[in-house]
Amino acid sequence: METKLATKRRRLAISPAVFSALLAAAFAFCPIAHSQESAVPLFAFDGPAAQESQSGQAGQAPRYTGPGSCASTTCHGSVSPRTENRVLQNEYSTWIVKDKHSKAYASLQGNVGERMAAILGIGKAESAPKCLACHALDVPTTQRARTFELSEGVSCESCHGPAAAWLGPHTERDWTHEKSIAAGMYDTRDLTKRSERCLSCHLGSQEKSVDHEMIAAGHPDLYFELDSFSAVMPRHWKESGEPGEPENSDPWYDVRELTTGQAVQLRQSLLRLASRAHGKFWPEYSELQCYACHHSLTLPENSWRQARGYSGRRPGDPPWNPSRYTIFHEVVFQADGDGAGKLDSELSRLAQLMSQLNPDRDAVAASAVNCARLVSDLSLKVGAMANDPASTLRLLRKISSDADNIAAQGEHAAAQSAMAVQSLFVAYERNEKFQNSAELRAAIGALFQDLQDPSAYDPARFAGKLRQVNALLP
Ligand code: HEC
Ligand code: HEC
Ligand code: HEC
Ligand code: HEC
Repeated sequence: METKLATKRRRLAISPAVFSALLAAAFAFCPIAHSQESAVPLFAFDGPAAQESQSGQAGQAPRYTGPGSCASTTCHGSVSPRTENRVLQNEYSTWIVKDKHSKAYASLQGNVGERMAAILGIGKAESAPKCLACHALDVPTTQRARTFELSEGVSCESCHGPAAAWLGPHTERDWTHEKSIAAGMYDTRDLTKRSERCLSCHLGSQEKSVDHEMIAAGHPDLYFELDSFSAVMPRHWKESGEPGEPENSDPWYDVRELTTGQAVQLRQSLLRLASRAHGKFWPEYSELQCYACHHSLTLPENSWRQARGYSGRRPGDPPWNPSRYTIFHEVVFQADGDGAGKLDSELSRLAQLMSQLNPDRDAVAASAVNCARLVSDLSLKVGAMANDPASTLRLLRKISSDADNIAAQGEHAAAQSAMAVQSLFVAYERNEKFQNSAELRAAIGALFQDLQDPSAYDPARFAGKLRQVNALLP
């Protein structure tokens, strides 16, 4: 039954596989914990290109060896996880068996991928740079070692950076993480950098993107939440508090992963909007609320849209999709009320600009960059926030009590709230335990059930379910 449901959902534009996985997770709690980082600045203000450090400098370009170099059973190819030290050593097995990243190249060769490429007129998908940019490690041939295969999809070095310079030495006894970083490893331990790396493909950047043209040709819509997507990936790393994970145990790591991930995705999406505002096609429909256009029509007396009205826009103009701000909005007011107020009003202005039929390109770009800068500043304060049972519960209450407002922001905002509530629930449950955890889990599961058919999304129904979660909180 589960597989049938999954196949049905797969046909929808927004890839719901993550929802079904989270739905399953809502009923099967598996305890995981994390490692701590200090409250360092979340990010300096730089453009989306800055994260693409992978491309390297000419002359000293580091080389990529391919995942085969990590696959030995005594390295990262152990069948079962090791418990005696920090590294599980079965990362390769996890990746090749359970992680969809290892199938990313193969997806290009499937029916949907090939038809997409035919519609777009770009030849074979598996040789189109437009697709390989996110579905493989498409680095210049001069940076490919002999062992490297494009067909291995999104592999170790897509996230961890080129390995040639640290592959040998990183197994030595006195070798440190810092030495690896100096030798070209990407610092995925840093949550901001980690988010940026994921989002380079799961949101896109100036260099590579999924726009409405690609979506109309068959590509799933992109959405992301760091903590949920890391759990679904599934994680191949140990989290703090687990045996063998020595330093800086932070039991509230999930919460920081959630809030940091939200800050980074908001900033990166604003920068993407700014660059799209000066792109070839405008307005870019994938910046708008999909189901404002893609819903079925009803009799006037049954239309919740007409009952709701079209506040702040001309009736029938499609509204901006504000879902990348939905959760950060709930978080940031706890960190800095004044700064959050400023961001809130600038983002409302941007939403107004974007919710017009033909948004002013220059005004949108200027406003988006301005907002991105405000997000950068505020992220420092969000990163410094202490997380504990009280603050986690406060955030859960805040999100679930803002039900009407969140639900009205559309299906994508609802999805963000469901993922955030799930992450916070798991974090709290791991440390404190709810007395009514079975009921809460079922209520959170019901949120994901509501997202299965996004064209039929009904804000009143979703808000009711979010309120139900709220009513169950202590
Ligand atoms: C180089 C690009 C790239 C990077 C970097 C990347 N991903 Fe992905 N990710 C993909 C692609 C492409 C797919 C789709 C694979 C497929 O099914 O063909 C995917 C799929 C996934 C899925 C499965 C989604 C589903 O529908 O089931 C999860 C979860 C995921 N990624 C999480 C992450 C996380 C977490 C990070 C960062 C730690 C990350 N990804 C980094 C490209 C990337
Ligand atoms: C900006 C990065 C990016 C680009 C460019 C990109 N993709 Fe994807 N693609 C993804 C991600 C991320 C996913 C997984 C989405 C999810 O599940 O959330 C994905 C998923 C898919 C899937 C669904 C896989 C599955 O498991 O069901 C197909 C098919 C696909 N992409 C084909 C293509 C083709 C063909 C192109 C080129 C025309 C392309 N992609 C370009 C990032 C990208
Ligand atoms: C989609 C991104 C992604 C891919 C692909 C990926 N990793 Fe990871 N990996 C991560 C993230 C994120 C972490 C957690 C942060 C950290 O510990 O660096 C991690 C952690 C690890 C760790 C633990 C490091 C530590 O110090 O605790 C090892 C070892 C590792 N990965 C090896 C691999 C190997 C081997 C492959 C390929 C078979 C691989 N990874 C593929 C993202 C990825
Ligand atoms: C301003 C209106 C508008 C918005 C907003 C919009 N689309 Fe579309 N979309 C269209 C139109 C028009 C077509 C072409 C339909 C046709 O040719 O029949 C289309 C085509 C599509 C198709 C292919 C048609 C099909 O039935 O398979 C998909 C899938 C799609 N859009 C998904 C999305 C997603 C996902 C979003 C949000 C990220 C989105 N659209 C936002 C207007 C819109």
